[in-house]
Amino acid sequence: MLVFGGTGDLALHKLLPALYHLHRDGRLADDMRILAVARHEMKRGDFQSLAERHCRAQVARSDFDNATWQGFAERLDYFAMDLVQSAEYGRLNRYIGAERAQCARVYYLATAPSLFEPIAENLSFASMAGENTRIVLEKPIGHSLESALAINAAIGAVFSEPQVFRIDHYLGKETVQNLMALRFANALFEPLWRAGHIDHVQISVNETLGVENRGAYYDHAGAMRDMLQNHLLQLLCLVAMEAPVRFDAEAVRNEKVRILQTLKPISGLDVKDKTVRGQYTAGKIGGQEVPAYYFEKNVDNDSDTETFVAIKAEIDNWRWSGVPFYLRTGKRMARKCSEIVIQFKPVPHRLFESSQANRLVIRLQPEERISLQLMGKSPGKGMSLTPMELDLNLAQVFPQKRRWDAYERLLLDVIVGDSTLFMRRDEVEAAWSWVDPILKGWQEYYQNPRPYPAGRNGPEQAQSLLEQQGRAWLD
Ligand code: BG6
Repeated sequence: MLVFGGTGDLALHKLLPALYHLHRDGRLADDMRILAVARHEMKRGDFQSLAERHCRAQVARSDFDNATWQGFAERLDYFAMDLVQSAEYGRLNRYIGAERAQCARVYYLATAPSLFEPIAENLSFASMAGENTRIVLEKPIGHSLESALAINAAIGAVFSEPQVFRIDHYLGKETVQNLMALRFANALFEPLWRAGHIDHVQISVNETLGVENRGAYYDHAGAMRDMLQNHLLQLLCLVAMEAPVRFDAEAVRNEKVRILQTLKPISGLDVKDKTVRGQYTAGKIGGQEVPAYYFEKNVDNDSDTETFVAIKAEIDNWRWSGVPFYLRTGKRMARKCSEIVIQFKPVPHRLFESSQANRLVIRLQPEERISLQLMGKSPGKGMSLTPMELDLNLAQVFPQKRRWDAYERLLLDVIVGDSTLFMRRDEVEAAWSWVDPILKGWQEYYQNPRPYPAGRNGPEQAQSLLEQQGRAWLD
């Protein structure tokens, strides 16, 4: 496995710890090697120490031991090169060596999307893109439909679609996969999973983190490109899609792409009614003062990048007609929580004063749980009703099992060549086709994001988006 951008945040914080876990669990072939590739000169030993520091910090203490680390470190190597210079790839190929030339090979592009095209072209030029290779691209794939099309075309000119793995790590999260199990392995929900019974859906991915040391990237991306275009739309697809005919890569992705294609376009002045952009100002997170977004490292002082976005999305098909999907994501929010709320309609005839509509909440983080709110009677005299929860905490259901990080699952899928949990080319393009007009609408009609103090769940306008219809975010 060659990791381009091998000394970047993603490689050090996510990929190497995930590979360490796979090594520890005996899931990597004995002769598998991991070559980190990046621009600056570094000795192999120094890279191994750098990787060790990060893995020690990321991996639970009980899972880290020196002997296992030594075994893992043996797999690691480092190669310095300029990724845009085609001549450098011959040198890389020679370094890998003739005896490994025929081995199955994964190229992981943990780099800025602007490098995807030159890397693919250079790999092809150096005859390093044979049938036995796979390429992994990190989201976001481009920054607009046009750039995504260009990237997909450049990658497609070198690698066939089954060789391409476009990662959205949300698809590797256990509860996200559980969503498919919940929907398609339980007869209970299917008859209710439609407009007649569901009032609306909320999908929130709230973070307390700011932009950390990713200001330079984030200031050009913003919450829409960084989170909504990919993670939130993928979650929406899994909630809304029809049952696939089989559980395999093509069937699942066919259904997801259909949903993306039926999202009602939001463009022009619509953006004022259906979207909210926000940017955090100074505030408090966990009792600590934190600076405003525009004072973060590598962020423009007059930046108008959004760190929060909320959208009222609608799906134009038979099942979901008239059911809004409220999507929301932001940095520096009140607390870290990612969840999907399926809000059912009230009973058709209210026998009891205090009855409330049912709600199914699927929480992805911080803990993985699925809870169903039902109405029941409070003990004692009279018929006073109270909401009660059927609550499934997955960590308690499987107490012995270590919770896999999404990247562990996805890296293993790349190695075995299973693309079910990866985005297909047309999916990425369909997602951009919906997002692009919103970005354009913002440029024309909605320049300045609304401020919200760090530690709050976005600007007030995000509340109004639901309140207009007598609804509220579940916080
Ligand atoms: C990444 C985004 O894709 O997802 C980050 O680039 C974000 O900005 C992260 O913080 C959130 O992932 P998770 O798994 O912590 O919810």
